[in-house]
Amino acid sequence: AAQAVMKKAVQIAPDAWMPGGKPDPLIRQKHGLIGTPTSRLDGPQKVSGTAKFAAEFPMENMVYAALKYSTVAKGRIKGLDTAAAEAASGVVLVMTYRNAPRMKPAPPFMSSAKAAGGDDLPIMQDEAIHWNGQPVALVLADTQEQADYAKSLVSVVYETESSVTLFEDAKANAEPGVFQGEPLLLEIGDAEASLAAASHKVDVIYKTPRHSHNPIELHAATIGWNGEDLRVHDASQGVAHAAWSLAQVFGLKEEQVHVTSPYVGGGFGSKTLWQHQILAAAASKVAGRPVRIMLSREGVYRIVGGRTLTEQRVAIGANAEGQFEALIHTGTVAMGHHNNMPEPFILPAKSAYRSASFKLDVEAVKMDMLANTFMRAPGESVGTFGLECAVDELAISLGMDPIELRLRNEPEKDPTTGAPFSSRHIVEAYRAGAEKFGWSGRRATPGTHREGEWLIGMGCATATYPYYRMPGGAARITLTHDGRATVEIAAHEMGMGTATTQTMVTADRLGLGMECVTVNYGDSHFPGVVLAGGSQQTASIGASVTAAHRELIKELLKLAGKDSLLAGLDADEVIGRDGYLCKAEEPGRRESYVSIMARAQRSEVTVEANAPPPLEFTHWSMHSYGAMFCEVRVNTVTGETRVSRFLGSFDCGRILNPKTAASQFRGGIIMGLGLALMEETEFDERTGRVMNPSLAEYHVPVHMDVPEIDVIWTDIPDPHAPMGAHGVGEIGITGVGAAVANAVYSATGKRVRDLPITLDKIL
Ligand code: MOS
Repeated sequence: AAQAVMKKAVQIAPDAWMPGGKPDPLIRQKHGLIGTPTSRLDGPQKVSGTAKFAAEFPMENMVYAALKYSTVAKGRIKGLDTAAAEAASGVVLVMTYRNAPRMKPAPPFMSSAKAAGGDDLPIMQDEAIHWNGQPVALVLADTQEQADYAKSLVSVVYETESSVTLFEDAKANAEPGVFQGEPLLLEIGDAEASLAAASHKVDVIYKTPRHSHNPIELHAATIGWNGEDLRVHDASQGVAHAAWSLAQVFGLKEEQVHVTSPYVGGGFGSKTLWQHQILAAAASKVAGRPVRIMLSREGVYRIVGGRTLTEQRVAIGANAEGQFEALIHTGTVAMGHHNNMPEPFILPAKSAYRSASFKLDVEAVKMDMLANTFMRAPGESVGTFGLECAVDELAISLGMDPIELRLRNEPEKDPTTGAPFSSRHIVEAYRAGAEKFGWSGRRATPGTHREGEWLIGMGCATATYPYYRMPGGAARITLTHDGRATVEIAAHEMGMGTATTQTMVTADRLGLGMECVTVNYGDSHFPGVVLAGGSQQTASIGASVTAAHRELIKELLKLAGKDSLLAGLDADEVIGRDGYLCKAEEPGRRESYVSIMARAQRSEVTVEANAPPPLEFTHWSMHSYGAMFCEVRVNTVTGETRVSRFLGSFDCGRILNPKTAASQFRGGIIMGLGLALMEETEFDERTGRVMNPSLAEYHVPVHMDVPEIDVIWTDIPDPHAPMGAHGVGEIGITGVGAAVANAVYSATGKRVRDLPITLDKIL
């Protein structure tokens, strides 16, 4: 989710951006904290209930908000009666288009460096309705119950206009997709001609449905004005982005908006800036009182965008040896009128396989619906479903093992850009995964492994997600006279283990114990523009901390002066170890932090630095990889599919904290099981209304649906990435849909090409 803001830079020497122009010595480090399984530092606060989330910060004289949502997809409000609501007990304000303050649009997410808006619509500015579920009234009251009741008393009459809500009809008007400034179109050679001429081929359509976001923590904010300054306790994966974007909406200076978000109960791409924070801030201004807004679960489905639907054609032409002659991945997605997110499902096909020709193309059709948005591995989650099912189908038609087919098409360099891979060990991941999973025990003929009513099958698929590092990273480090360090960075802990892992990394870098290092984050007043998105936060923080640490060493060497054993050394020759700065090649030449600070009579030293621009992209093709293995049992009587075993074998560079990384992998895989077997937003194509806005009707995996998930990894550091690490956040969901579908085929001989794989499609 990150290409947007990464400008193409000039070709440079491979590691020019790194400190000293060479790979960071910590990348190779085998001792120390990196690689040690470490529990979450914030775990005790979370499980004991002392961690405060956005809707748990009190503000004096605060009121509670409730939203009323439109029931038509397009039209105008022609009648509005708020009198009964205004007269209801405890009501402080009923805000509608009639009395809402004037606001500017929020720049849509990823349209510029700090843009966070889910859509670019200012709403409650006129009578217009843009989607079924758009907020039409916001009620403030002394209690949540009073606000919820009063909103039911607001009466709205609509004049409907004809709307575009039927995908089949709308498809004729599809337009070329543009993702973050780049056309979603790539052609190398004449792929259609090569396909036509190929001796072996597959050419099929895959479909994936709409998905709604369901983080455990509902979207919420507690908001107050202090004169012209806006204070927001938010649930955010981009505090700097939210602050800047809110400033645009209300015509403020960026510094006037202070957004904090110390804990976030899951984001997955959804915890950006949606209408609830904007409307709550507006209502707070009108009422002159702080406002708490927490969406109901239904509210999240109505006003927080999710993943859009896709219809994908995948066609692969191959010779008798299985070598790809043509790789075609094209299709259509739905998109809102007021956002810009044509689900980029072709991204995996850009670098997964070598092929003599390529044709990749996404077209988008605009529909009258809630703005769709980023959702865990946008593009790759659903794109790997189509691509990796098609590879499986081709393997079957060739009579070849699907892993062997993949290995035969393993590229030596990026097949569409020609760039060398910085670190790609997917073959090792496949070998290790196949061995541990027992792939050799798979029956080649589908439908032949039966135990009573159950048919058993195995499937595999490739997982892939790009390595990103966005520009704008920065960090501040303060070292105090007692040899303790505090890092401040506008980053986020949404449950991934970021704060823990960065404490480990910083402690290793400084040569301090973890107990001597505090990492503070989740505050827009801290340095850096760091998005917890695109699986890039760890790289961004790491590069920022590396840069700030280098400044700190320079400063300490200056303070140490000529009376120190460190005299005459420069920053590149010095490392931190056991509370000392020492010469890397001659550890006896050292002085402790405490001694340096004492001799310089300093109580603290603070440095701040920007991360170097992400030039690693200009030289390398960089990705996280995985090989996914799934075993399913399909009931021949009921059609029920149970995933009985799953293994993910990953290649994501150096794994910094095996404990939290394993949880990230598993969490992604579980979300992938939902994508494969149950998740589907029921969008009524007549009315544009989401019909299953609750976890009772929108199914996600529960414990009974999740088998033991084994995760392993190569742990081969990428010398060209900060800390040698690639992202581990989004890779886990990719490839899972295809691994499950391929296993279902292996079990039953039935090929399901439209997700989710529900029992009606199997029987
Ligand atoms: Mo992720 S969809 O980049 O939060």
